[in-house]
Amino acid sequence: MNDSLPFPPGFTWGTATSAFQIEGAASADGKGPSIWDTFCHTPGRIIDASTGDVACDHYHRFQEDVDLMAALGVDAYRFSMAWARVQPDGKGAWNEAGFDFYSRLLDALEANGIAAHLTLYHWDLPQGLQDDGGWLARDTAYRFADYAREVARRFGRRLATIATHNEPWCTANLGYGNAQFAPGVADAKSAIQVSHHLLLSHGLAMSAMREVGAPAKLGIVLNQWTADPATDSQADRDLAAFEYSRSVEWFMDPIFKGHYPDLALRAHGANAPVVLAGDMQAIHQAIDFLGVNYYFRAWCSASNPPIPAPALGGSTDMGWEIYPQGLTELLLKLHAAYTLPPIYITENGMASADQPVDGWVDDAARIDFVARHLDALYAAMRQGVDVQGYFLWSLLDNFEWNSGYAKRFGIVHVDYATQKRTPKASALWYRDFVAARRALSATP
Ligand code: FCB
Repeated sequence: MNDSLPFPPGFTWGTATSAFQIEGAASADGKGPSIWDTFCHTPGRIIDASTGDVACDHYHRFQEDVDLMAALGVDAYRFSMAWARVQPDGKGAWNEAGFDFYSRLLDALEANGIAAHLTLYHWDLPQGLQDDGGWLARDTAYRFADYAREVARRFGRRLATIATHNEPWCTANLGYGNAQFAPGVADAKSAIQVSHHLLLSHGLAMSAMREVGAPAKLGIVLNQWTADPATDSQADRDLAAFEYSRSVEWFMDPIFKGHYPDLALRAHGANAPVVLAGDMQAIHQAIDFLGVNYYFRAWCSASNPPIPAPALGGSTDMGWEIYPQGLTELLLKLHAAYTLPPIYITENGMASADQPVDGWVDDAARIDFVARHLDALYAAMRQGVDVQGYFLWSLLDNFEWNSGYAKRFGIVHVDYATQKRTPKASALWYRDFVAARRALSATP
């Protein structure tokens, strides 16, 4: 990596986590169950049969985790709120003890000068709302707007940004399309209807938060990728075009253009979502920032068996191809297609099978991964894309959804038996990188 890369002064360097993956304390102080609690306790759903009951016990150890971030010298922390902690049933009464927890977390961040970037929904729907139909029920979108309004009213002054959703693509396609994620439904038509309700809930929540005048910047976090055909064949090119349309444009077009993309909409046929009058107007409203999570590209092969991705840059412990230039290509493509607000890279990072040796984790591959993606990010910025921050996923090793604790994404190692945190080589590298960037931008 070119150490003199002049990321602009004021560029935000952060780390990211989400509530269910780190907090634990699954029923502490009045928290209600979420669909992920239910899912983990259903045999066969999680590869290592683990749960989020304890996770990184961040609920009780948040001060230590904030101290870790302070020692890294990061500017910002992206985290999510467990809806069922602050509203146990997803409707009705608020749980003051839950809000107190987040208030204490914000105190600790403020005391260290770390900006707080909140995500309202990182997949842990209150089970009470699932019992009423979950995201397949249109009413859930209205419940989400109520929740968003209340959070913005209480915390809107203490947060740098509020994102409505994290990766609605996953909620819809993995939660309802292929049953890999909670609530574990596999039905294509449901997944598409859910994606519409998620977008609607985003729009309703934006309006609700604007009503209370939250000074925090408001937006959404989308997972995105470019889609490359495996060969030049018409079939592969068609598949790639469809993949990009159904995954990226499906969420971007409604927000930025007010309609679903033609290609995917036509292909969905009878599975196209029910859209009521006024829905697209609710969704199509200005956002203050766009969060982009980037991990890999989509590789599209129509042959049987499919031609595998070349993975010339290697692949991660998740089996995901390492493809940094996809980040440059994606950002340039978005920049050309939409009038974008400032972008934050809200997640980027890799899983590796890290094991401490004499108390030290030398995760050189992660350092290389991050450095190459920062080069790729900077290449897009040089070509005019307005990116204002980068959040490394993740601060801590944590509960990686249906992979349980088997996949480690942290720059800080967590020993789940003792809850001992040990910064890996990548944490120290990131600390030095951020310090060097800051020193550079302070140089006249
Ligand atoms: C993203 C999720 C995040 C984490 C990373 C590895 O899709 O937003 O919670 O699981 O992948």
